Amino acid sequence: MSKIVINSCQPLSGEVNISGSKNAALPVLAATILVDGKSILENIPSLSDIDYMCEILSVLDCLAVRRSDGTIEIDSTSSKPHSVPYELTGKLRASFLITGPLLARYGRARVALPGGCSIGTRPVDLHLKGLAALGGEYFISDGYVDIKSTKLKGTRVCLDFPSVGATQNIMMAATLAEGETTIENCASEPEITDLADFLISCGAHISGAGTDTITVSGVKRLKPTSYSIISDRIEAGTFMLAALATHGSIRIKNINLAHLSAVTAKLAEIGVIAEPIQNGVVVNGNCQKKATDIKTMPFPGFPTDMQSQIAAALCCAEGTSVITETIFENRFMYVPELIRMNADIKVEGRTAVITGTDSLIGAEVSATDLRAGAALVIAGLCARGKTVINNAEYIKRGYYNLDSKLSSLGAVICYEE
Ligand code: EPZ
Repeated sequence: MSKIVINSCQPLSGEVNISGSKNAALPVLAATILVDGKSILENIPSLSDIDYMCEILSVLDCLAVRRSDGTIEIDSTSSKPHSVPYELTGKLRASFLITGPLLARYGRARVALPGGCSIGTRPVDLHLKGLAALGGEYFISDGYVDIKSTKLKGTRVCLDFPSVGATQNIMMAATLAEGETTIENCASEPEITDLADFLISCGAHISGAGTDTITVSGVKRLKPTSYSIISDRIEAGTFMLAALATHGSIRIKNINLAHLSAVTAKLAEIGVIAEPIQNGVVVNGNCQKKATDIKTMPFPGFPTDMQSQIAAALCCAEGTSVITETIFENRFMYVPELIRMNADIKVEGRTAVITGTDSLIGAEVSATDLRAGAALVIAGLCARGKTVINNAEYIKRGYYNLDSKLSSLGAVICYEE
């Protein structure tokens, strides 16, 4: 098990370049199954989750070649709808995103249900309901979904909840369905728009991505293309909070600030101004932090993937902050770890009440998931003394070169295998 060791540091300062988005890259990698030919994807971050998805694509006889410059070539010419085993899908919940593309291109898919994780049960009922509405007939046995269809037919789908994954799976399947599909009450995250833009560049007919209703008119086939993935808004937000927590000033480059408006609005409530600059933002955290309330919501609301990080940053704000997690049922696993670092937090159901303390104190703690790990890094950066974060491989799943990026800003941090 790898660790991250952090010693208290001066306020972070300098410039950091944000990498490509994990949550944009994973659905686009799955979408390459739809393409009859070689897709070239740029700005793909070097993360273990990306490796897992490439492993899954190779089980489907898609040839994935990663180049050193962050480009991945995926040749799906001879892909096959082979069964994808649990030992692969269980490592990466996003693996279920191959189901819609396989069903659309080959009329069948057999995918092991990915199962839950520490933040929640992560069901796929909305994915399956949408694919069934398009004409997919499925049954679940031995933990696998077997789904097939002679020909997918466009239809109206209204999601019970604006699920990101379900929106992506249904949109991908609809690109090759006969006729028009509308997906109502769909997710509008930037990663949805990025997937739609990739599919459109392959010849798909999609409109409305980024709103609550997406319309897809099916086409016969999708052609190969080159496409560059958007940058990672959650990595960018994590660095904003690192500046806030350490009273530092960081220039965060290669981001689209429009993807972070809920986060910058909360920074302003806390007292931290995010100054837009060309292709980025400067965040200066050298001010007294005021407590504020956070309620996670689907985009454009405050992102659930930033909830644990802002909780860590609010541990030393003046006053009491209330955090309400509305998206996942179990996303406060980081709280006991922060309490070990002198944080004053009480959890009641889906609400955490944080009372600001003077300072956090370094301790040995454990990451329970990717974003909980990021929260512990933020806490370690502003704590007095040494912090050791166990299970650091969780962090590597979503943050490329986090240690060297933070070290370049003045942090005293390193991974230890
Ligand atoms: C995506 O997960 C992201 N992952 C998550 O980021 C992110 O937290 C989540 O969207 C919400 O923004 C990727 O993009 C790879 P959902 P996804 O379907 O698609 C329930 C990270 O840290 N639900 O929008 O799985 C579900 O249980 C990860 O990078 C159903 O009930 O999220 C959850 O409570 C963590 N039935 C809620 O909807 C379904 O069929 C949101 O899930 C699907 C979802």
